[in-house]
Amino acid sequence: MELEKPLFAFWYGSLSAVSLPLGALLGLWLRPSNKWTSSLMAFGAGALLAALTLELVAGGLKLAGFWPLGGGCVLGAALFMLLDRLLNSKGGFLRKRSTAAKHLSDQKLKQYSDMLKRLSGIGLFRSLPPEEMCAVVEFTHPFSVKNGEVIFNEGDPGDRLYIIETGAVEVDSGQARRKVAELGAGEAFGEMALISGDPRSARVSAVKDVSGWTIAREDFERLLADNPGLKQEVSRLYVRRLDGLFGPEGSGAEAAKWAKLARAHINVSSLVPSESELKAESEKHSGAAFAIWLGILLDGIPESLVIGASMLHSSAVSMTLIAGVFLANFPEALSSSVGMSKQGSSRSKIIWMWTSLMLMTGIGAFLGNLVFIGLPHGLFVFVEGMAAGAMLAMIAETMLPEATEQGGPAVGMMTVLGFLAAIFVNSLAH
Ligand code: CMP
Repeated sequence: MELEKPLFAFWYGSLSAVSLPLGALLGLWLRPSNKWTSSLMAFGAGALLAALTLELVAGGLKLAGFWPLGGGCVLGAALFMLLDRLLNSKGGFLRKRSTAAKHLSDQKLKQYSDMLKRLSGIGLFRSLPPEEMCAVVEFTHPFSVKNGEVIFNEGDPGDRLYIIETGAVEVDSGQARRKVAELGAGEAFGEMALISGDPRSARVSAVKDVSGWTIAREDFERLLADNPGLKQEVSRLYVRRLDGLFGPEGSGAEAAKWAKLARAHINVSSLVPSESELKAESEKHSGAAFAIWLGILLDGIPESLVIGASMLHSSAVSMTLIAGVFLANFPEALSSSVGMSKQGSSRSKIIWMWTSLMLMTGIGAFLGNLVFIGLPHGLFVFVEGMAAGAMLAMIAETMLPEATEQGGPAVGMMTVLGFLAAIFVNSLAH
């Protein structure tokens, strides 16, 4: 077997990824700010965009036309997204700040919508416009009590509002413990002391196992101050209770419609995870090093394969592709190694990890050259299209969010400059 060309591909693949250990070293040494790494990420994304457009898309289009290229692109993107989700579920999302943040905000969104669905059964809150409901979600804390337990006694100070999701409580008052009411799922209690400032007007105890939520007094007051509609509803409930009257809580269909509307109004900024949440998440996945490694490898596989493959149909290696990959790899390692070191990984482990990924890029190029040799043009362009689609999906899903997250107003310009840098390298070759 002729190994000269694949070995040549190995060296060029490794060269394009020297920027990985280099970026990691510089990251550990200089500890650049998030703003810097984001700007460099934008530059790298721009360079990779230009490289894949010029080398993969334009070349493939000329060789075999639109369909093999387009079909490959769609399949490549779909494959990337599938594997990305799979690795993320094993902790691979920790490889980048942006992927970790996205994972956490998706998780929060799920929790929010789940809470909204459950809160939609509470008549009291349905007086709130759906867009105000997010505030309620933030203020609710879960509680549960066992059957027979006293939740509070008559005369206690009122410190929180209770909402029942499942189970039932009994309200009784006076020396004779006269039963005033039994409240069940979807009903609230403990609002009277919060409104009047008086002590609890009755004793409340569980007559079944109860679970639900509480809202602290200060938060409840804030909600009432911000929502005249809720205030009115709570006052009505207060009066009804004083009179010993109750009304129906509303139909299930209404509740579902309301929950859907409320979900559409979830405030996206409230889903952005804080630094401490990100740190806690990375501690939770401390055993995810392999998934992170695989995640970074996944980001790099398509480009390494096409570096090797691109040498098959032209006599010289594509310097544009090498430059684009080099420039994209650099900020990737720079930003990730800072994050990894913050999460407690040792320097030697970080450097070794990026060096091994550099070698894997070389091996990918070697294989790309070996495997794609002799493929008919149509199939070759299809595979090239797959790489282009996967790279585009990777840029859109991991690089650009990282760039825009903290890059400030320079992001647009840095992307254009990166794009031009790769085009400049290309112009030198012609
Ligand atoms: P609070 O006074 O804070 O504490 C006791 C709670 O029992 C009270 O708020 C109401 O939520 C509830 N409660 C009091 N009276 C009635 C009633 N007649 N019917 C239903 N619930 C009541």
